[in-house]
Amino acid sequence: MSFTPETRRRRTFAIISHPDAGKTTLTEKLLLFSGAIHIAGAVKGRKASRHATSDWMEIEKQRGISVASSVMQMLYREHVVNLLDTPGHKDFSEDTYRVLTAVDSALMVIDAANGVEAQTKRLIEVCRQRDTPIITFINKMDREGRDPIELLDEVEAELGMPCVPMTWPVGQGKGFGGIVNLRTQSMRLFDAGEDKRSDEYEVVSLDQRDKLAERFGHDWELAEQNMELMAEAAPAFDLEQFLAAKQTPVFFGSAVNNFGVQEVLDALVDLAPAPRPRFSTEKDGSHKEIAPDMANFSGVVFKVQANMDPSHRDRIAFVRVCSGKYTPGMKLKVQRSAKELRPTSVVTFLSQRREAVDEAFAGDIIGFTTHGGVQLGDTITDGISLQYTGLPFFAPELFQTVELKNPMKSKQLQAGLLQLGEEGAIQVFRPEVGGAMLLGAVGQLQFEVVQHRLMAEYGVDIRLMPCRFTGARWITADTPEAMKKFTDENASKLALDAADTLAYMMTSAYDLRLTAERHPQVHFHPLREHA
Ligand code: G4P
Repeated sequence: MSFTPETRRRRTFAIISHPDAGKTTLTEKLLLFSGAIHIAGAVKGRKASRHATSDWMEIEKQRGISVASSVMQMLYREHVVNLLDTPGHKDFSEDTYRVLTAVDSALMVIDAANGVEAQTKRLIEVCRQRDTPIITFINKMDREGRDPIELLDEVEAELGMPCVPMTWPVGQGKGFGGIVNLRTQSMRLFDAGEDKRSDEYEVVSLDQRDKLAERFGHDWELAEQNMELMAEAAPAFDLEQFLAAKQTPVFFGSAVNNFGVQEVLDALVDLAPAPRPRFSTEKDGSHKEIAPDMANFSGVVFKVQANMDPSHRDRIAFVRVCSGKYTPGMKLKVQRSAKELRPTSVVTFLSQRREAVDEAFAGDIIGFTTHGGVQLGDTITDGISLQYTGLPFFAPELFQTVELKNPMKSKQLQAGLLQLGEEGAIQVFRPEVGGAMLLGAVGQLQFEVVQHRLMAEYGVDIRLMPCRFTGARWITADTPEAMKKFTDENASKLALDAADTLAYMMTSAYDLRLTAERHPQVHFHPLREHA
């Protein structure tokens, strides 16, 4: 496949980790090293997101913060690097899954003391499903942590693919001496401090082994033994294997001390993939590969975010450009509705600043500010007809019904729920036979966010009531007759979601099994792929 220079120099990746492993710190350092920001601490505002509680003030803060800095673009070594942040709280895991559909690779940050933690495991699963290449960074080597070989074993077991160490630590915690770059066969000596750039550290070639042995004593000997061991036990780095998500290169470092960060940034440029082809679903249900270098502009909405100012009802649709080139003034079409999209502005995300886009290519993320008409999963093109596959909606497992405290506000409630549903903040189901709206969530916190936002942005006070449903399944049938028979028999348990897709609301696993047995030609899907 041929790539245009613009496509070839794009790198679009997500940074994933369990809360507190050092994602924010590493993000900041990557921005610092690429020259995108100049002062350490600039990303620190995001700290508020770390210890998410069920307190809605905290949620609001998070929301504001994630609007400001969920996408960051930087230039490094003639490459355009797009970094996408992923929400840390597990109740917002759906958002994270969608972000992972918009990237070509992932950078996984692991705390050397804690290894692979719960939230990371979940994220790994999604990356595995999509065969997303993963670069691993083992952080906090300046703290007492676990043995590096033990950590690699754990990463390997969790990822289900071999680890290939690209650097190796000498000592750890108080005795952290630095890291050996296994490719260049040189050691960069560690020196604690937040303000150093990588070229200010002393580098010693492994040719001067005696000097290193003398300086680091037992730690050096142990590192040397381990490096020998790994040279035998671990496979050699193989770019093809990495790109096929069959091995992960591993780097060690200490983000807070700027240590080992440059190696990661270089790896993103040298190893991580340029934008890859994506698949569209044709009218007959087959899939077609769309190359990033196709001349026509196309992209997918993977995130919709309401603006922070509640008096402005506009929203930003985050679009991953999948092919072609975006230029200002271009005519854009939303495939689902076949309507023209007329954004009030189109922005790019330059490390915390938003700027009007001059041009954007496959791999870039652009934000369309609109007053509606865009949903999660929408494909937007310059007019050509295509629909990308793969933006996942998960069947909710928690349901509540909505009751209005003031019945006069029913219009506002409808409008609010429609918009929040389109953003993916919650899934809204309208029962076919009428009655109260149902809210479906994957995490409990989502209910609180929605209740709070309805009040703050739409002036609607609601009460959330428990309801009998425990799950939803999207419905398809082999024949129209089978569908009719099914819908006739189950009218009281059918509802339409925000994209008007029919769903069966189940009351238990038993209920679902029984219904499925009665209707063998009807299919019940726990995942809906696109709008
Ligand atoms: P997150 O986004 O993954 O949640 O983690 P974040 O970067 O906020 O880092 C979590 C804590 O770990 C912070 O400490 C941060 O300073 C610290 N940290 C990050 N990288 C390293 C490292 O390489 N070595 C050490 N020793 N610590 C590291 P905090 O005490 O919670 O906040 P702060 O007030 O010190 O910044």
